[in-house]
Amino acid sequence: MRVGILGCGYIAQSRHLPAIREIAGIELAALCDLSAGTLQLVADYHNVATRYTSYAEMLADDTLDAIGVLSYDHAADILAALRAGKHVMTEKPLAFTVGEAEEIKAVLAENPDLVLQVGYQKLHDPAVLWLADKVRGVAPRAVEIHDYGAILARVRGDFGPIFRVDDLPDVGGAAVRTTVAATGKAAQVNPDVASRIAATLPATHASFVETYLTGLMLGSHDFSVLNFCYGMPRQVLFAHTTGPKHLQAVLELENGALCNVDLQLGTSYGWWDERFSVYGDDDQVDLRFGNPFLAFSGTEIVTRSTVNDNDRTLASSYRGYEDGFKNEWIHFRDAVAGEVAVRSTADIAADDIRLVRDIVTRLPVPSAGS
Ligand SMILES: NC(=O)c1ccc[n+]([C@@H]2O[C@H](COP(=O)([O-])OP(=O)(O)OC[C@H]3O[C@@H](n4cnc5c(N)ncnc54)[C@H](O)[C@@H]3O)[C@@H](O)[C@H]2O)c1
Repeated sequence: MRVGILGCGYIAQSRHLPAIREIAGIELAALCDLSAGTLQLVADYHNVATRYTSYAEMLADDTLDAIGVLSYDHAADILAALRAGKHVMTEKPLAFTVGEAEEIKAVLAENPDLVLQVGYQKLHDPAVLWLADKVRGVAPRAVEIHDYGAILARVRGDFGPIFRVDDLPDVGGAAVRTTVAATGKAAQVNPDVASRIAATLPATHASFVETYLTGLMLGSHDFSVLNFCYGMPRQVLFAHTTGPKHLQAVLELENGALCNVDLQLGTSYGWWDERFSVYGDDDQVDLRFGNPFLAFSGTEIVTRSTVNDNDRTLASSYRGYEDGFKNEWIHFRDAVAGEVAVRSTADIAADDIRLVRDIVTRLPVPSAGS
C-alpha cells in the first residue's frame, strides 16, 4: 500500500512517520505540507522523494492508495480524499462537529470499497484490548476517566528532531496549525473553527467553544475507550466547568453504572496523567496511560482484588510495550487488504463528538457577566 501523508506537524513527525517506516507492506510514498520549509526538512529526514505543498495535487497522484490525514482542521481533507477514491487513516477527532462527521459517514457509505480508520491509538493498545475483553458485558460499580493534559512543552519528551519552519502561505484565515510556530504555544482557537462549533450548540452555550475543544481534543481518546468497552452512555447526568480548560461530567452507562469524567488541560506536571479506572464488586483496574508522544511508554495495568475477606492482591503489569500508533497502521493496512474490520470506526468517532456536544450542552447556562 502506497500512502501519502497530509500534514507534517508534531504528531506526524513524532509518531506516525517513524511507525509507518517500520511496517512491511506500507510505503511512505509522498508527503504534503503547506509549509515548504517544513516539508523539505521532514522529507529529507525520512528520505521521501515525492513532495507536495498542494493537497489537491497529492490527491491527483494515481499511484497513492491511501492518505494519512494528519492535519488539524481536517473534515474537508477527509471528504476530499474519499471523493478522490483514497482509503483514509485520519487523526482524531474525526471532525469538529457532529454534522461534519455525519457527512463523512455518508460519503463513506456511498463508497463501501473504501476504508476509513480514525487514529484512536488506544483502541490498538494491547492493555485496552485486554480490559475490553475483561469488562464487556459486566456491569461495573463505576467507571472513572481522569485525564489531566500537561502543557505540551512538558510532556513531549525526547523523540528526535521536530522541524517547524515559520513560512506558511496566506491561507485566508484557515486553521492550519495547532501551535504558533515562533512560540510553540497553543494557538488561539481559529475563528472559523470556533464559529462552526458554536453553531452546533444552543445559543445559551455558544461561549463554551473552548471547553468543547478541551472535551474533544483531550477527552475523545478516553470516550473512545469507554465506547469500545461499554457502548455509548445513555445520558449525561451532570456537567460542570471551572474554565475553558476544564470539563467534569457524570455519565450514565447503558448498564446503569455511572462514569465520572474529569478532564483538565494545562497542568505543569512533568508526567502523563491519564487514567481509565473500572470499579467492580471485589476488584478494581486502573489503566495508566503512557505519554502518547513517546513510543514504548506503555500502559500500566494496576489491578487490585479481594481474595478472601481480608486478603487482597495488588499487581502492576504491562501487556508488552507495543505501540498503539504502529499497531493502528498495521491494522489499517490489514483492513485495506480486507483481512480485518476497522476497530476505530467513523461511527465511534462521530458518537464521541456527539457525547462532547451533549456534555457541553448540559453545562449550567452562564449567568450574565460571568
Ligand atoms: N493521537 C494523538 O494522541 C494525537 C496527539 C496530538 C495531536 N493529534 C491530532 O493530530 C492532528 C495534528 O496535530 P499536530 O499537533 O500534529 O498539529 P500541527 O499543527 O503540528 O501539524 C499540522 C500540520 O498540517 C499542515 N497542514 C494543515 N493544513 C494543511 C493543508 N491544507 N495542506 C497541507 N498541509 C496542511 C500544517 O502546515 C502543519 O504542519 C490534530 O487533529 C490533533 O488532534 C493526535
